[in-house]
Amino acid sequence: MMLWQVVPGAMLSRRERFWLVAMGHRLEEMVRTADAAASDPVTPDPLIVNIGVYKGASMHCLRKGSPGATLVGIDVGVSMVHAADVLRAELIVRDSRKVKWNRPIDLLFVDGGHTYEVVRSDIERFGPHVVAGGIMALHDYGRSDEYIEERGRRRPNRPPLGVRKAVDELCTEDQGWEVLAIVDSIKAFRKAV
Ligand SMILES: C[S@@+](CC[C@H](N)C(=O)[O-])C[C@H]1O[C@@H](n2cnc3c(N)ncnc32)[C@H](O)[C@@H]1O
Repeated sequence: MMLWQVVPGAMLSRRERFWLVAMGHRLEEMVRTADAAASDPVTPDPLIVNIGVYKGASMHCLRKGSPGATLVGIDVGVSMVHAADVLRAELIVRDSRKVKWNRPIDLLFVDGGHTYEVVRSDIERFGPHVVAGGIMALHDYGRSDEYIEERGRRRPNRPPLGVRKAVDELCTEDQGWEVLAIVDSIKAFRKAV
């Protein structure tokens, strides 16, 4: 069953494909593809920023596919500080709207506050630091029509409206974001080169 759609013609390295799977918490597929992702030479030492850590599921997944990455998690209240060593992650325990950021980002995963205001701020504050060719993926955008058609409406497709509104306004081709894939309810973009 096809569960996620990559935009036709979009080029994805093995590691990028894994990242998308990992952020969607697609565990079976992750296990199958983790080794290939880990040895992918295309983006050997990426810098990954995960806004919204919660208990660390996405952080664990991202680390699994990117052993050499610099992994940074941002959350107002991180409950997995004890796991930072295991993950070899930097944790910034702060409201993402107050984080001063100036490092180039290869992968930005936005899954923190889901209001329009916070998502907008995350895109505006961190998006400009995504390198050309890098990826920004946002959770809870809402599932695609194709996904719903294939899987049925087992779960209501009611994404938090703030995410979709901010993404639709700010992640356009005019603003340098090309749609790359829709994975479950994640929408991913590649920054134009
Ligand atoms: C949906 S959870 C993240 C789930 C996580 N990605 C995972 O894989 O389990 C959202 C997280 O965002 C955090 N959060 C909410 N508003 C935030 C903000 N303004 N800045 C930073 N973190 C925020 C919450 O504390 C919560 O842990």
